[in-house]
Amino acid sequence: MEKIKVALIGFGGIARFHNAAYKTLSAKGVPVELVAVCDRNMEQFTKEIAINFGGGDSTIPAGARTYTDVDEMITHEDFDMADICLPSFLHKEYTVKLLSAGKHVLCEKPMALSYEDAEEMMRMAKKNDRRLMIGLDLHFTPEYLFLGDAIRSEEFGRLEYIHLWRNSMYPNWGAGDHFSNRKKSGGLVIDMHVHDVDIIRHFLGEPTSFDVLTYDNIPYCQTVTTLLYYPTLAVKIDSCWDKAHLTPFDAGYDAKFERAAVRCDGNKLTVIPYEREPYSPALTAVDGYAEEIAYMMELILEPTKKNEANPPEGTLATVRLMSEIQELGDKKAATMKA
Ligand SMILES: NC(=O)c1ccc[n+]([C@@H]2O[C@H](COP(=O)([O-])OP(=O)(O)OC[C@H]3O[C@@H](n4cnc5c(N)ncnc54)[C@H](O)[C@@H]3O)[C@@H](O)[C@H]2O)c1
Repeated sequence: MEKIKVALIGFGGIARFHNAAYKTLSAKGVPVELVAVCDRNMEQFTKEIAINFGGGDSTIPAGARTYTDVDEMITHEDFDMADICLPSFLHKEYTVKLLSAGKHVLCEKPMALSYEDAEEMMRMAKKNDRRLMIGLDLHFTPEYLFLGDAIRSEEFGRLEYIHLWRNSMYPNWGAGDHFSNRKKSGGLVIDMHVHDVDIIRHFLGEPTSFDVLTYDNIPYCQTVTTLLYYPTLAVKIDSCWDKAHLTPFDAGYDAKFERAAVRCDGNKLTVIPYEREPYSPALTAVDGYAEEIAYMMELILEPTKKNEANPPEGTLATVRLMSEIQELGDKKAATMKA
């Protein structure tokens, strides 16, 4: 079978995890090949970079060509899909450019920094009849898939309350410190809080209402707590960026169902039935990025396959909700400071 040729654009922190995923997938026989890597700064091709949850793989595969200019790469390289790992303020511009050049696009989260930009990305994918998916890896992470299944199947009864959290060091590895600039990264709310809000919106749909509390004192710390209300349950989501660069990355959830609690601490999942002994469901450990890319390969190979795992229409709705959360958070923070 012919391999799907991929060009990775932006070879910074998260690209190292995508790079590792392509190697994993090739080794497993998935028909995908990383043929080119582009970064405007050549030093990135050889640098070791560690992000909040590790270092990934910094070695570009021997057969892949390197470029410092995306247009030059489009002119000289033959590839089917662009994997965009650029700073967030560039997502819309480069997604539109690559879709217009006839490439399928997997773009890292957040989709875009405004709803209008995200809508344009969707329009261009339709116009050029190309696949577009946003890298929201919780959609492919077993512990969160377990939660989604439990909510849908009501195996433990109805979900009544859930608390999700995601705490990290401030992302100081970003090229040119783009994470410190809200116009470039969206700040904590748009950049990292999006993971948990998005996965909950995917499982439960649009909330009836929400409330938010933010504290933004970058470079020392940023925190946000969002409450999403649904007719019969409430969701609390906490995220934090902490200037202490050794703050360990920590994400998980605590879900209260009618007949059991389900707790996820990193990779440790425990079901605590209300009238039986706790147990840990057997989940196969997988690389969420590799799963995400493998799914994108399926979508490209099967043009009529519906993207049910991580539909871009859903991500677009998340962009709207995140903007509203950001707006209300800012308004309330300004009132409290006054
Ligand atoms: N899914 C996740 O868990 C996760 C984790 C971290 C980051 N991200 C997202 O990935 C994106 C990149 O983040 P990062 O941490 O890798 O940042 P980074 O700064 O480490 O990497 C970005 C890279 O893009 C390059 N670049 C910038 N402008 C360019 C251009 N015009 N042409 C070519 N290269 C250019 C930079 O030199 C840099 O190497 C962000 O949108 C971020 O939110 C996702």
